[in-house]
Amino acid sequence: MKAKFGSKIGLVAATVGSAVGLGNIWRFPAEAQANGGAAFLLLYIACVFLLGIPVMVSEFALGRGGQSDAVGSFKNLGASKPWWSVGALAVLASYMILCFYMVVAGWTFEYLWQSITGSLYDGIDSATSAPFAAKMNGFIADGWNASINTYIVLALNIGILLFGVRKGIERLSNIMMPLLFILLLVFCGVALTLDRASDGVEFFLNPDFSKITPRVALNALGQAFFSLSLGMGILITYASYYPPTTILTRTALTVSLLDMLVAILMGMIIFPAVMTFNLTGEGLEGASLVFITLPEVFTHMPGTQLWSILFFLLLMVAALTSTISISEVSIAFLQDRFKLSRVKAVLMAMLPLILFSTICAYSQSDSFSDIRIAGMTIFDTLDFLATNICLPIGSIFLCIYVGWFAPKGFLYRELTNDGDVTSHVFNVLLFIVRYVAPILIGLILIGVFI
Ligand code: TRP
Repeated sequence: MKAKFGSKIGLVAATVGSAVGLGNIWRFPAEAQANGGAAFLLLYIACVFLLGIPVMVSEFALGRGGQSDAVGSFKNLGASKPWWSVGALAVLASYMILCFYMVVAGWTFEYLWQSITGSLYDGIDSATSAPFAAKMNGFIADGWNASINTYIVLALNIGILLFGVRKGIERLSNIMMPLLFILLLVFCGVALTLDRASDGVEFFLNPDFSKITPRVALNALGQAFFSLSLGMGILITYASYYPPTTILTRTALTVSLLDMLVAILMGMIIFPAVMTFNLTGEGLEGASLVFITLPEVFTHMPGTQLWSILFFLLLMVAALTSTISISEVSIAFLQDRFKLSRVKAVLMAMLPLILFSTICAYSQSDSFSDIRIAGMTIFDTLDFLATNICLPIGSIFLCIYVGWFAPKGFLYRELTNDGDVTSHVFNVLLFIVRYVAPILIGLILIGVFI
């Protein structure tokens, strides 16, 4: 018998655990800042509701209906061969994401370590402008330093995957995620009392519609899918553990709302701080934003070091629960396709990352940051291709399969739990999955290139 999630809370918590990660805390604020603040937030929320939730329900339906992982579920439902090849895209996307995600997890580890030793706050002179920017930029400027930290989290990741303590980590995250949430509420309270908090809130919540361009729309779409863990079939596997009584639409709504809430809370923390401490301009934006801004907020709280340790510790766990879920895509692929043992598959999937994430880490360093592809560093290029191209294309295929090719009545059965409950949204969802999602995602993708 297949294992099932024990309780309703457990199943939602596990799915939220996969969704909440560096995507919400590190990536979202940086994207929002680069894409015009409130205008981006608005598009992101629209993408979550109109596209993210229907795609999530489709992944859930496939997983619970197919009772297996991404490839197996397609097979069990009798899909013909070409559908499985969508899986190849997922493996590619997961691998590209791992390359840069590990680097950011490495930064998190460094900041956790420096919070523990206290060196993060040593010699910080709040009279100089942006002291933490100097610290962070100095840290990533040295590619070797950043790489070492990346290897440490890579080793942690391999350890968790090899020794099968995954379950333990997930149970830990079920306790730590609510704690992270409470912590963010506290920080939000502090940030909103900062001097220029209202300017930050204005930037984050009052949209300037002239900022909306096709590229901003694509970035919002990518962020929504990245943050909700969509487009690589990961949630197919999660849903295969759902009991037959789970109401898929309600679960998708709960998970998406919680995930969005974490992102929005981050915005409400970061932008008041950005305005108050004048953290805009060259070298202050982009990937290092959170690492520059949050320590500033902590120095304005009594017990600075303690808050800092707690935050980076929780972020580290959130990052690890996400890296193990992303790694599993390549590992499962190697195990199934080449009939490798677990240990071999883990090592074969993970060891090349030593090289690839070193390249990513160095691409942000002083010596290599001028190597650019279409204006982006290698780090940003991988992120762009995986998040904004692969995840949306994967989702289009998923919607086309579920909407048009899955066995007749399949989606209806899954949404109504085989007729046990009535689904008020079935027709709307089917319409979105068949027409709106594939067409709209396609148009947003094409819009950027014309
Ligand atoms: N959603 C996670 C985050 O926000 C990252 C992640 C985990 C992910 N699993 C995924 C992204 C699957 C895309 C697909 O950090």
